[in-house]
Amino acid sequence: MLPAYVPNPIAALFGGGTPIDFGKNSPDRRRILGDGKTYRGLFFGVLGGVGIGLLQIWLSGMYGLPSLPLHTYLSVALLASGALLGDICKSYFKRRLGKKRGEKWPIADQYDLVSGAFILMLLFDPSWILTYVTLPVLTIILILTPVLHRAVNMFGYLVGVKEVPW
Ligand code: CTP
Ligand code: MG
Repeated sequence: MLPAYVPNPIAALFGGGTPIDFGKNSPDRRRILGDGKTYRGLFFGVLGGVGIGLLQIWLSGMYGLPSLPLHTYLSVALLASGALLGDICKSYFKRRLGKKRGEKWPIADQYDLVSGAFILMLLFDPSWILTYVTLPVLTIILILTPVLHRAVNMFGYLVGVKEVPW
């Protein structure tokens, strides 16, 4: 799951600049996505996720870890881009509900990346997800994701990268 987990913190570290929605509003007079979704965050986030995935492919080639899921260029690209697409979709619906940038939206804030990554996987590489994401693996992912999310965001807040600790 590393290629899906890494893009968000990298986007928080390196994001900023032009927002993906170019500052435009939706017909409901609220921002389409908001200032928290930027091209720089998207670009470097996906790059970071793909980077960690390539490292995993390289390591498994060198040391052969047969018990771990085998990544491919496709699986890595889908997890990394799916994670941030899920994040963008979440922000779209968050704005429609009138929630401000950075405002809390429990469950959606934690699972956006997993849903985005898994939906892209199911669409473009279903055999990977059906082979590796078994029921016990899915259970672990569903438990681990909010815990990691919280821990990383609190750390980001403490070191001044994130404006809020969630
Ligand atoms: N970020 C970015 N581009 C992205 C995703 C994230 O630049 N595509 C950066 C932004 O600086 C953002 C930070 O990472 O503020 C934290 O991301 P996130 O929590 O997803 O955004 P929020 O600011 O909470 O905005 P939203 O309410 O829309 O989720
Ligand atoms: Mg947020």
